[in-house]
Amino acid sequence: MTNRLTVASAKGGVGKTTVAINLAGALNHRDHDVLLVDMDPQGVATEGLGHAEAYDAEPPTLADTLLAGDRRHLAQDLLLDHPEMDLLPSNVDLLNTERDLTLSDVAADLQARGVDATSVIQSGTLLEDSCLDEDLPHARYQLDKVLREVEDDYDYVIVDSPPYYGEILDNCLYAAPNVVIPALAEGTSQRAVELLYDELDAMERETDVRCIPALAVANRIRASTNEAKEMLEWFDAAFAETPLIEIRERVALQYSFNAGRTLFEYEPGNDMTDRFTDAAKYVEDFFNE
Ligand SMILES: Nc1ncnc2c1ncn2[C@@H]1O[C@H](COP(=O)(O)OP(=O)(O)O)[C@@H](O)[C@H]1O
Ligand SMILES: [Mg+2]
Repeated sequence: MTNRLTVASAKGGVGKTTVAINLAGALNHRDHDVLLVDMDPQGVATEGLGHAEAYDAEPPTLADTLLAGDRRHLAQDLLLDHPEMDLLPSNVDLLNTERDLTLSDVAADLQARGVDATSVIQSGTLLEDSCLDEDLPHARYQLDKVLREVEDDYDYVIVDSPPYYGEILDNCLYAAPNVVIPALAEGTSQRAVELLYDELDAMERETDVRCIPALAVANRIRASTNEAKEMLEWFDAAFAETPLIEIRERVALQYSFNAGRTLFEYEPGNDMTDRFTDAAKYVEDFFNE
């Protein structure tokens, strides 16, 4: 089976997309075939991998594959090339998917209680009947089914997730419950990590899935200030059982993003490539255990 990971934090700007792209690059440089799935409705990874045109493309898009069982197989046709990985791109239509999945979940819930929700399901672009399998009648199971359509040729699937809690993030965590958690070396990041742990617990309570932190990333560390030092101690305590890598503040990470490449292609000599290679090794070990 393909190894699936979600890069998650409900806080924006902590480096999810940067980590997702460069971890994919590191795994690729270690001879793995990688698929990056951009589940952020803002499509930052899609743009950063040079496929802004896919973000604005007309349907069918990733949004359709998530909402209609009979369109799920179209995900195959959406895959795009990049020199270091393949991409299942985000699309502007995903901006409506959060709402559609939420409504679908309500409809599925009603249905499960014996209320006829067919009219709710059929009004508009809601999750279609064919998605509501008898055994799994809830919206959060859709990405898992989409990934099964596309993942066969890959060793790793890395899902980049949106910066807030909701049905889309639940879809990511259910489909890929092995979690990479980036956080900034500053106080506000602590709360985001604690909230994410709550979310993982809730997912475990409500489904049969086990969410496991696979890797923590202390990101944008600046030269040894006291704050950075305290945060690293906090990271060590908070992620006692999870491997931790430290990524420093490097403009090359921004330049490489702007150039549509990972750091491995853009500036192979940059010292952070070693850190991302360490991350890739931790991830390999995680799945080998
Ligand atoms: N270690 C780093 N050094 C310098 N800039 C960084 C670093 N990590 C992330 N950034 C920059 O910070 C911004 C937010 O990062 P991003 O990966 O998009 O965060 P998220 O996906 O969590 O919203 C981007 O402009 C990115 O290039
Ligand atoms: Mg992002």
